[in-house]
Amino acid sequence: MSDGATARGSATEREEARKIAEGLEHLSGFGNEHGSEAVPGALPVGRNSPQRAPLGLYAEQLSGSAFTEPRAENRRSWLYRIRPSAAHPAFTRTGNGALRSAPFTQTVPDPNRLRWNPLPDPAEGTDFLAGLWTLGGNGDVTQRSGMAVHLYHADASMRRVFSDADGELLIVPERGGLLLRTEFGLLHVEPGHIALIPRGVRFRVELLDETARGYVCENYGAPFRLPDLGPIGANGLANARDFRAPVAAYEDVEGPVEVVNKFCGNLWAATYDHSPLDVVAWHGNHVPYTYDLRRFNVMGTISYDHPDPSIFTVLTSPSDTPGLAGVDFVVFAPRWLVGEDTFRPPYFHRNVMSEYMGLIEGAYDAKTAGEGGFVPGGGSLHNMMSAHGPDRETFDRASAAELRPQKIDDGLAFMFETRWPVSLTPQAARADHLQQGYDDVWQGLERHFRPLH
Ligand SMILES: [Fe+2]
Repeated sequence: MSDGATARGSATEREEARKIAEGLEHLSGFGNEHGSEAVPGALPVGRNSPQRAPLGLYAEQLSGSAFTEPRAENRRSWLYRIRPSAAHPAFTRTGNGALRSAPFTQTVPDPNRLRWNPLPDPAEGTDFLAGLWTLGGNGDVTQRSGMAVHLYHADASMRRVFSDADGELLIVPERGGLLLRTEFGLLHVEPGHIALIPRGVRFRVELLDETARGYVCENYGAPFRLPDLGPIGANGLANARDFRAPVAAYEDVEGPVEVVNKFCGNLWAATYDHSPLDVVAWHGNHVPYTYDLRRFNVMGTISYDHPDPSIFTVLTSPSDTPGLAGVDFVVFAPRWLVGEDTFRPPYFHRNVMSEYMGLIEGAYDAKTAGEGGFVPGGGSLHNMMSAHGPDRETFDRASAAELRPQKIDDGLAFMFETRWPVSLTPQAARADHLQQGYDDVWQGLERHFRPLH
């Protein structure tokens, strides 16, 4: 077809994928010992590695943590598959596209406040993997520490299969639904939902709409977990039961399948003679999952002052220092503002942590929306100790506002907040879609000081 439908995949394919996505079953809970079998009897009972696994399957363990990590941190799953993962030819290097990895040493770390417009349209036939574009990050993939901020813009479903040995992938769609076909089964995400693919898990991304755009946090460090709740109690923030894991589903496909593996910062490819998404049954807690951000139980003040944004943490990747996250995923979900004698938008601040913010829809309450501002699909970076906060217009409005109860329900913003400064890739530092003059939003903040004497 001359209109490019072949390269992108046809509308019929997208409709079929959507029908599958909307009919999916799932397992509920975060960090559970889940188990699922696509064929009755495929999951062994009472042992992980029987002398002969059921139905002629191969048993295989996938470890997301060291064997000896404490039980609460231990992540592993047992997979029962048509062929063992070991049955593959040699991988050879393939192009990295616009995907980059830590350490990010090609630019001088920038203390300036920076903001980007959305990624430009992709070249026709760009799948999720080819559409990944790295903004920057920190740490070192070979040390399993730090994180990377990627954006993606795709217009084609993947035909190949991808896995990331360097970290887990937190996918935050901003435009277009996705069907994720993983070794563990199928997941469906739409803008406003998140998906997490654990380290090493193979998957393919199929588009449910003509294009797909969004954000990815590649977390090289400890797997994301739910934050402790402390005095909040046993419930609240992201509730464990709202996380969804797939039920087992497998592909029994013979024939060439391209499999791409990200390893220590580079992409490596091999052509298998079968689909590696051939897991018929599995059990364990190293599993992909999705979560609807609108299920987040938002906590906030019912007296005065704006709480620190850590109150909005959905997932946290802890470091060796208690309370210090490698990276937190934070959401600014719809909520009521009722604080008395309180400047209600986020306060001015300087933070030892570094903050990358993105916008899924609508507007964010500390920034004026609209073209040239903080727009859906765009992002801002406030690196370690950079001074930021509401823009002048927001400050003027919020300082004079009558403090009636107010519902904030016109936007969904999020933050990747990380312990180390985010260094940019050259493509992000020189991007045409890097906004010029972001500093100007804080110009004109007038002097109001009136000494009494
Ligand atoms: Fe901030």
